[in-house]
Amino acid sequence: MGGPGHTGYRLPDSWGPLAYGGRMRVAVTGASGLIGTALVRSLEADGHRVVRLVRRQPAGPREMSWQPGGTLGAEALAGVDAVVHLAGAGIGDRRWSAAYKRVIRESRVRGTRTVAEAVAQARPRVLVCGSAIGFYGDTGGREVDETAPAGSGFLAGVVRDWEAAAAPAREAGVRVVFARTGLVLGRGGLVGRLLPLFRLGLGGRLGDGRQWMSWISLDDEVAALRFLLDGDLEGPVNLTAPRPVTNADFTRALARAVGRPAVLAVPGAALRLVLGEFAEEGALISQRVLPRRLEEAGFTFGHPEVTAALATATST
Ligand SMILES: NC(=O)c1ccc[n+]([C@@H]2O[C@H](COP(=O)([O-])OP(=O)(O)OC[C@H]3O[C@@H](n4cnc5c(N)ncnc54)[C@H](OP(=O)(O)O)[C@@H]3O)[C@@H](O)[C@H]2O)c1
Repeated sequence: MGGPGHTGYRLPDSWGPLAYGGRMRVAVTGASGLIGTALVRSLEADGHRVVRLVRRQPAGPREMSWQPGGTLGAEALAGVDAVVHLAGAGIGDRRWSAAYKRVIRESRVRGTRTVAEAVAQARPRVLVCGSAIGFYGDTGGREVDETAPAGSGFLAGVVRDWEAAAAPAREAGVRVVFARTGLVLGRGGLVGRLLPLFRLGLGGRLGDGRQWMSWISLDDEVAALRFLLDGDLEGPVNLTAPRPVTNADFTRALARAVGRPAVLAVPGAALRLVLGEFAEEGALISQRVLPRRLEEAGFTFGHPEVTAALATATST
């Protein structure tokens, strides 16, 4: 038995029977996304059975249909040991119009309620609910862990309501974990969007570059989600590497990873003009978040340093 096939390192055997002994049946929403694709691949590589909950017509026996805000019959989750809920409209994909902000919020709040109500009926062992460090708002240079209160701003409000929407599952006695994820560094996502610019030598820090970025490699994100499926952690858990970096350090590390200089700087005013409100909450926000609960529970990061994470994320 090995760890997740693609991570290149073994999960500790002490992680117990769900990870290694029995085969789990896991239902996953958002299975086609950056994290979902990697998670499903990892679970299936280890022989677990995955049911993808898709918003379109199911394409085969391994898919079931659901609609965020609609109903998800308990029968869809019958016999399922665990649910991982990763669905939600992209946060940095488009300019935040009032209409798109509604889509960001509703896709998560209503989607989570739909999943939580089905979980409350079907009673799997655990619901791992996607969440985000956006919960903490702008933390400046201050380090925060899971004991920190919700911050202010649009995203902090969305994450607070998103987590609250899982109440039916918790009230039914199911173990619910909120995977408060930082910036995921893998092939695709943020790195995928930045790479063309950096490869042309057009990468640069954002604003003054002093804002903190709390990131996690995609391999560690998958390993941490699997760690949460097992064990007994519940409530909020930060999925971020133990060493956040400033935007200036991140920019240097990404430039080094692609072997190009990154001498430019994108002024905050230009970002505000191009990105609108997302400039403050996405590009310029400072978040120095620590994975206190994961570390206390004995989770070991494969990529604790951003240089190694970016080397993997940019390798072809
Ligand atoms: N990637 C990051 O850096 C990061 C950081 C913090 C938190 N997160 C959170 O973790 C979760 C998964 O992230 P990800 O990067 O894998 O996301 P992603 O690549 O954008 O994929 C999300 C998936 O959600 C589904 N989806 C898309 N639009 C939707 C809508 N309007 N309503 C409901 N579902 C929709 C899609 O799956 P189907 O088409 O298969 O339904 C999509 O593949 C998200 O909730 C995200 O906010 C991600």
